[in-house]
Amino acid sequence: TWTMAGFREMEIARIREQVGTGKVICGLSGGVDSSVAAVLIQQAIGDQLTCIFVDHGMLRAGEAEEVMETFRGRFNINLVHRDASDIFLKALDGVTDPEVKRKTIGRLFVEVFEEEASRLGGAQFLAQGTLYPDVIESVSFTGGPSVTIKSHHNVGGLPERMNMKLVEPLRELFKDEVRALGRELNIPEVIVGRHPFPGPGLSIRIPGAITREKLDLLRRVDTVFLEEIRAAGLYDAIWQAFAVLLPVRTVGVMGDGRTYDQACALRAVTSTDGMTAEVYPFDMGFLNRVASRIVNEVRGINRVTYDITSKPPGTIEWE
Ligand code: XMP
Repeated sequence: TWTMAGFREMEIARIREQVGTGKVICGLSGGVDSSVAAVLIQQAIGDQLTCIFVDHGMLRAGEAEEVMETFRGRFNINLVHRDASDIFLKALDGVTDPEVKRKTIGRLFVEVFEEEASRLGGAQFLAQGTLYPDVIESVSFTGGPSVTIKSHHNVGGLPERMNMKLVEPLRELFKDEVRALGRELNIPEVIVGRHPFPGPGLSIRIPGAITREKLDLLRRVDTVFLEEIRAAGLYDAIWQAFAVLLPVRTVGVMGDGRTYDQACALRAVTSTDGMTAEVYPFDMGFLNRVASRIVNEVRGINRVTYDITSKPPGTIEWE
């Protein structure tokens, strides 16, 4: 019979066979997928693995610190923190097309990984926490014609010319299976239970061109939303929750004055694999509380909307 313990042993053997005495670098984002991949690979090949946490400047507030704190001194993983935000934000300057954003980010990730690999004296393999739905959705949409909906950078977005071979031990798993594997590997619940966060980060939650100012604004909205979700005890009931900064200004009234500021959207969905999703049915009291906190606490935002589109026909992210 199939068990997670058995799967783990089988994957460890497969990784050892693929890698031999080679060196592997692994992009660690702090999310469930890359964390589980990293710990599994570490158990297979130990010190032959080095993880790179790349801060591309489009992470949530406090994310880099949190990830480094969680992983430093745990799991015996070699971990390098690389702040590459200048490189990424410069390359994305003025870029508005979602697929160009993804491809640019994918290419830069590979360049950064290659730089880090050569710093380590060369690595032959790049490990990623690619899941089955990433593979499917980058190739075609379930039941539909064979078109690319979004090229998830950890699959379709990788440049062909990359000179490292891929190690992707989670390629056949769905998210709930990755979480079960994470528990089998004794990875703490704060990581195993984390909401998914896309590789391109906040860039695909800012329709249009990205700027540092917009990123900061979005981080502040996002922080309030997630704080309220946690405070209401709803975090674990939700697949993913986040804010989107809308490229539109609207008129509002604040005290005695007129405001003309940006609007944002909140998105929260339930799902089991990310391939379909339903809007999370918050009660109006919760939404009112969040909206008033955002408008009062985040200068520059004067309107809050809640996205009630399911997937399909919407996708989870806006881009
Ligand atoms: P969509 O928006 O396609 O999202 O319904 C499905 C799941 O995939 C995540 N997502 C991405 N993850 N790179 C990633 O690593 C990407 O380019 C990307 N685009 C979407 C999304 O957050 C959701 O969990």
